[in-house]
Amino acid sequence: MEILRSIDEMKTYSKKLHVDGRKIGFVPTMGYLHEGHLSLVKRSHQENDATVVSIFVNPIQFGKGEDLACYPRDEKRDLKMIEPFVSAVFVPDASEMYPEGFVTFVEVGELTNSLCGRFRPGHFRGVATVVLKLLNIVNPDMAYFGKKDYQQFRVIERMVRDLNLSVEIIPCEIIREQSGLAMSSRNVYLSDKENGDAAVIHKALLDGKNDVLNGEKYSSKVTNHIESLLRTAESLKKIDYVSVVNPYTLQDVDTIEDNVVILIAAYFGNARLIDNIEVDKPAHE
Ligand code: PAF
Repeated sequence: MEILRSIDEMKTYSKKLHVDGRKIGFVPTMGYLHEGHLSLVKRSHQENDATVVSIFVNPIQFGKGEDLACYPRDEKRDLKMIEPFVSAVFVPDASEMYPEGFVTFVEVGELTNSLCGRFRPGHFRGVATVVLKLLNIVNPDMAYFGKKDYQQFRVIERMVRDLNLSVEIIPCEIIREQSGLAMSSRNVYLSDKENGDAAVIHKALLDGKNDVLNGEKYSSKVTNHIESLLRTAESLKKIDYVSVVNPYTLQDVDTIEDNVVILIAAYFGNARLIDNIEVDKPAHE
């Protein structure tokens, strides 16, 4: 596995792969990898001739007062974990990605105003900008994104469509701990008690999904039910949102007639956790 730290090295490497006719799969990450990341890497490994992973804690997607400074990092462990499946890992530093004078950003409009966009202004502008840069540098055929970050996946998918990029965006299923808690690098912030309590997030989402499948049409009833379940957890500190949205527009749905996604963002201790569940209405309705 090649470890490439400069943009020039990465571009040259991927150009050579393309000249050799090899199909490139790409998994962008911020490191501190877990089984969720590994599932994306393994899928890319299966579906492509070469897999590139990037590890870059992107400063421009963190807001003031967020966890940029303490975001967990362990490059050595990350490299060991992915080595069997990966041809090259791109590990630039911030000055390589954002040299002095950098002023160009990508805005994906309406899709970034709801959900996490409301609570983390500028976050998706930072995500879209870095992902576009990474796609230009790595030039992959396929790029893999986990659906835990559902809004991120839809934002990237839209950017790729709107800007006519040639890459195919592949959404991948959420990987969970045994308790049901969605895997996240930020789970490391949780104490054992908070980690145990946070299992309520997935349980509440499953209950919400059941409400819809059992015929509940009013989103407010579903979100109230979910919020009341979340509030049974002692370590719940704050709920940012519980929302039932259209999967494509990410706008709130009041009366549920079609497929929806239910999303949660909530703090357990100091960790802001997000999770979601897709609800496909039965075909006969
Ligand atoms: O999901 C992440 O880890 C990040 O938002 C991403 C896509 C690597 C961009 O920094």
